Amino acid sequence: MKQHLSACIFDLDGVIVDTAKYHFQAWRNLGQSLGFDFNEQFNEKLKGVSRVDSLKLILSHAGITLSDQDFAKALASKNEEYLGLISSMDKDEILPGVLPYLIKLCKHNIPIALGSASKNARKILQQIELIEFFDFISDGTMVQRSKPDPEVFLLVTEHFGLEPKKCVVFEDSIKGVIAANTADFVSIGIGDANILEMADVVYENLLGKEPEMLLNYLNKKG
Ligand code: BG6
Ligand code: MG
Repeated sequence: MKQHLSACIFDLDGVIVDTAKYHFQAWRNLGQSLGFDFNEQFNEKLKGVSRVDSLKLILSHAGITLSDQDFAKALASKNEEYLGLISSMDKDEILPGVLPYLIKLCKHNIPIALGSASKNARKILQQIELIEFFDFISDGTMVQRSKPDPEVFLLVTEHFGLEPKKCVVFEDSIKGVIAANTADFVSIGIGDANILEMADVVYENLLGKEPEMLLNYLNKKG
């Protein structure tokens, strides 16, 4: 299988672990403190986006301008709330099917990488006791550009010296799927097929999924 499938790259929030809901809660509370409420539909635009760019999006939708100092304070306050929400999180919040899937990839000797916009990624992987599975971690501390730019995924293929079209990206965000498609990765959407319609294929989650199924999508890519 390894000669066909070179590596699997996983987004973190909403793919590996159920943290997307905590990002939503913390951003929404911050928005409300600035007089701007938003719903899950608007939140889809924030998924996969860096902390700084998320705040810029919220402010531009709310029509609010902040001084540099208040902008920095708002970022710190969101992150502080988020860290509080995840402080007692443990491996129970790993999403369905993730652990057996990672074990199967290891058995096939397929390299496993992270491709996440989060600057908290390493901490979270340690907290949920999955960090040992990852051969390479590409995260928000290493990139200049937010998804839908594919930089965070291309750091992985550059590191291993691989071709994107032989690698698979697992993503729960529209922007992450676009990033993967832009750089010619195989994109697997995790979540709602209506929202992630641009993905090569969408799984509700990884429960019962076999890595061998990925070969079909790679073959279609040519
Ligand atoms: C992405 C999330 O994975 O990471 C976004 O989908 C989040 O919601 C972004 O804003 C940045 O995360 P952090 O942990 O660095 O604030
Ligand atoms: Mg995500």
